[in-house]
Amino acid sequence: MGFTTKALHPHFGYNDKHGAMRCPIYQTAAFEFEKAEDIEAVFKGQKMGHVYSRSSNPSIEELELKIKSISGALGVVATATGMAAISNALLALLKAGDNILTSRYLFGNTLSLFQTLFSDFGVDVRYVDTLDTEDIEKHIDSQTRLLFCESISNPQLIVPDFLAIKEVLQKHAIPLIVDTTMTPWNIFDAKKYGADIEIISATKYLSGGGHVLGGLIVDNGTYNWKNHPNLASFYQKFGPNAFLARLRKETFRNLGASLSAQSAYMLSLGLETLDLRVQRSCANALVVAAYLQTKPLVLNVDYPLLKGSIGYDNAQTQMSGGGAIITFSLGSKEEAYALLNAFKIIKRGTNIQDNKSLAIAPYHTIYAEYSDDLKKEYLLNEGMIRFSVGIEESEDIIADLEQAFINLTTKK
Ligand SMILES: Cc1ncc(COP(=O)(O)O)c(C=O)c1O
Repeated sequence: MGFTTKALHPHFGYNDKHGAMRCPIYQTAAFEFEKAEDIEAVFKGQKMGHVYSRSSNPSIEELELKIKSISGALGVVATATGMAAISNALLALLKAGDNILTSRYLFGNTLSLFQTLFSDFGVDVRYVDTLDTEDIEKHIDSQTRLLFCESISNPQLIVPDFLAIKEVLQKHAIPLIVDTTMTPWNIFDAKKYGADIEIISATKYLSGGGHVLGGLIVDNGTYNWKNHPNLASFYQKFGPNAFLARLRKETFRNLGASLSAQSAYMLSLGLETLDLRVQRSCANALVVAAYLQTKPLVLNVDYPLLKGSIGYDNAQTQMSGGGAIITFSLGSKEEAYALLNAFKIIKRGTNIQDNKSLAIAPYHTIYAEYSDDLKKEYLLNEGMIRFSVGIEESEDIIADLEQAFINLTTKK
């Protein structure tokens, strides 16, 4: 079955006593049991069931099972936000004294999480060049517990060679954790390319409408948790489900960053049209990127599937779509702001992969907490615009850009 058929007709089925075609929104904190013995059995894991929505809830479970079904994963845990997915997944794998390998080129809040909280709690964060396997190997030691990177880095649009990274990590039995927010399953099969765990901000493409926050942790079932020192006791009890068990029974339950039932319902609905929206925005983005290349005021355009772009070589061999994000640079902050302020349809806003086209200058916003030197190290510049291409007709997006460029040229 194809992606959309699976999303519409998940094979696990849902039995509603009224025949409802959608899983209802179970807007409840706790669940009632007929017998005290039953609630004890669920608490002890001897019987399936939901006791309290911070740990699990039928509406959230329906979304998790749908994702599991379309991705072929071992298991999925939905969280309140994408950041909650990153912190929960990594905290389930780490303890003080461990180190992790990651790229410098990450979504700003992820970088901030690593540089502040993780470092404060004794995790040594080692920045490596994910395009250089020798550099990766050089930073590995007996305390290295994982490598984390983004499938397409937001906003630099760097695309790693995942199988090359995987080869190095496998030698040292280190799991590969990939934030695949930029590339859903229908355009990048991260499992095939070695991602043991995928992290997704469901706030983005999955929601589509930009109406809810959410996150997903997907265990692809490809890493042998027997080899992970911090999961040894869980492996003894839960075997291949060691990571999911630690998440459910410890990290996720204790941190409490749960998705709401209402949001799970909206995300489940979004999943059904994900492929249509992703295909449309990817096609739009390629056309818009080519258009931007023709503008004399634009110094540089990057889009993973645009020839000559920073991520092109690795994107075109591994991905069937380049995602919604283009970055392009004008000569200065003033020019970038004049263009942004001239948009009539394109929204000035910080989200990505919304149905609507959105634009922002990351240097002055998402990375505002960093020094100019660091921002340059992160490959950002003052005139850079991150453009999230929506599902409007591409002619309308280009017309809005064109009138903004004309406005800018007449002002100059
Ligand atoms: C690549 C990536 N990962 C994670 C996140 C965080 O997701 P959320 O905003 O749902 O916490 C974002 C948000 O923009 C992102 O772009």
